[in-house]
Amino acid sequence: MSVAEQLDLKPGQSLELLKELHILTRDGRINQDSRRKLKQVNHLVQFIEKVLHEVPESASGPTLADHGAGKSYLGFILYDLYFKALGKGHIYGIETRAELVEKSTALARKLGFDRMSFLAISAADASQAEALPAQIDVVTALHACDTATDDAIAFGLRKQAKFMVLVPCCQAEVAACLRQDKALALARTPLAELWRHPLHTRELGSQLTNVLRCLYLEAMGYQVTVTELVGWEHSLKNELIVARRTGQRKRSAAARLRAILAEFGLGGLEALRYPGLPD
Ligand SMILES: C[S@@+](CC[C@H](N)C(=O)[O-])C[C@H]1O[C@@H](n2cnc3c(N)ncnc32)[C@H](O)[C@@H]1O
Repeated sequence: MSVAEQLDLKPGQSLELLKELHILTRDGRINQDSRRKLKQVNHLVQFIEKVLHEVPESASGPTLADHGAGKSYLGFILYDLYFKALGKGHIYGIETRAELVEKSTALARKLGFDRMSFLAISAADASQAEALPAQIDVVTALHACDTATDDAIAFGLRKQAKFMVLVPCCQAEVAACLRQDKALALARTPLAELWRHPLHTRELGSQLTNVLRCLYLEAMGYQVTVTELVGWEHSLKNELIVARRTGQRKRSAAARLRAILAEFGLGGLEALRYPGLPD
């Protein structure tokens, strides 16, 4: 069996790129962690390719901004498998760690991946960044830490993204709010048993966060699907949210979102995380 078959690579996928990304060693081997990462990124790339096919054709091609890019495995593999042959379009990597941005910039130059740029800024600041165009077609965020996924959503809304493809990571903000008002909640409702134990506080916090994100996207004019990315990781980090812009803002979703915030004592988050909700 060839290396490409063993690794379940996509047709045309570059082994040299995988070596440059240190997913493969120089002699073409792979460790268990890298195998998982590659499987996951390749799987996500398939979803993103599908949505890229749906972006209306333009002279300059599709634009994609990846938030919390890290080493930019996703961006590089997407470029290798889609943008390179397309000959147009641009990928922007948004990442707070300057050293990763420098490395990715150098690697893109070395590989001749000219239509890739990397910005050392936070997802929250990205929508103000002059280096980014006013409109972005596709927003991605693969395990962007904590609220960086919310910032990616805010960015997508600002840029009127046609698609957002999100795989949320750990999430602490909602859990912290639940924790803070736990005693009050337990006195008020038996439902607070759902988050009485610390582990449940964290898990419910994560679950609620993603539910609220989906409702927010629907309220702001997106159709949302939620599936599993690939059955390998901890399930809470394996949720794939794909949002497609319809432009039809759903008041019913906004009402539900507000009702859930109220029920869980999270009303304080509306202005911060869910601005611009329809009445
Ligand atoms: C878990 S890693 C995921 C990296 C990459 N997407 C992947 O899946 O391999 C999360 C990355 O998000 C970056 N990050 C964390 N908070 C951020 C923020 N607010 N804005 C931009 N990047 C952020 C971290 O520095 C880290 O590189």
